[in-house]
Amino acid sequence: MNTLGIETSCDETSIAIISDGELRANLISSQDFHAKYGGVVPELSSRAHLQIIQPLLRQALDKSKIKLEEIDLICSTAGPGLIGALLVGLSFGKSLSYSLNKPFVPVNHIEGHIYSGFLMNEKPEYPYLCLVVSGGHTLLLIVKSETEIIKLGSTIDDAVGEAFDKVAKMMGLPYPGGPSIQSAAEKGNDESIKFPIARLKTEFDFSFSGLKTSVLRYLQKNYGMELKIKEADIPNIAASFQKTVVESLKKNVEKALDKYEVKTLSLVGGVAANKAIRNMFDQTAKKYNKKIVIPDNEFCGDNAAMIAARGEMLHNAGMKFSLESNAFARLKVDHFTEIL
Ligand code: KG4
Ligand code: ZN
Repeated sequence: MNTLGIETSCDETSIAIISDGELRANLISSQDFHAKYGGVVPELSSRAHLQIIQPLLRQALDKSKIKLEEIDLICSTAGPGLIGALLVGLSFGKSLSYSLNKPFVPVNHIEGHIYSGFLMNEKPEYPYLCLVVSGGHTLLLIVKSETEIIKLGSTIDDAVGEAFDKVAKMMGLPYPGGPSIQSAAEKGNDESIKFPIARLKTEFDFSFSGLKTSVLRYLQKNYGMELKIKEADIPNIAASFQKTVVESLKKNVEKALDKYEVKTLSLVGGVAANKAIRNMFDQTAKKYNKKIVIPDNEFCGDNAAMIAARGEMLHNAGMKFSLESNAFARLKVDHFTEIL
């Protein structure tokens, strides 16, 4: 079976082909031009997806040595994401499905991330504790099966990636902020500044907006309202901020492991590329003697391989989707409506 995956929810256009369980292509075209605006400009994103999607499909077919007529299943990201951007991949996928007369599966982007560990050779074992850390979501989940996910907690304000991006912007570091903060932090001392970890009444929720504000207060106090930060001080601020994020994620992960019996720990989403968070996960898995699955960086950020894999999973579980049935912004999937 040849499955085509299409991802256009934000600033990455991606096309993937999985052939009989083997990933044959996962092409990702990143819209780097958003950096000069300090964030993603939705309208420009939609236009760029439209320009690149057809040539990218051609390249993916060439790379996989598969003809378009040999595609058996088409899966597109259906949400959440930028509406205009989603429309490009969704309409493209639906049109292919209609013209090839092959089934179409609309895939929830977050579900794509949640099950992305299955793209690795060493796969998660159910039930697994899954921490989703991306630009728009921070979720702690227990994944019981292919169709059953229990939400333990989520962020009550900013997502982790959003906090990285906003703090990087305050410090004048380039977008996307996550990688910029990580590389600045490598040269810094993470004990140099004490930022607070949010205390919440709910057991497994997260909050990062207080941390963001306390970094801002620190910067204003030490460098004035114009935030004229000394270049040499950036590594220590970045490292201390990153450490606080790591500690607040760790706190909830450990609480969940103390309370629930799981087989595997899985860290997914764009922010899962962060080395400090990956190290914390490694140590926690060792401490609790659990198997750990963190996807390779290629599968952490937005990619179509995870969309193809998740779509194939739903298709194999017998789920059928008609071309008319779904709205692109709010995909209602019975087993997992809570996070939409
Ligand atoms: O999953 P993703 O590619 O897109 C969304 O679905 O949101 O995540 C993008 C986020 C951005 O906020 C980016 O700054 C962050 O992932 N990110 C990182 C790192 N690489 C990407 N954050 C921290 N450390 C990194 N190395
Ligand atoms: Zn994502």
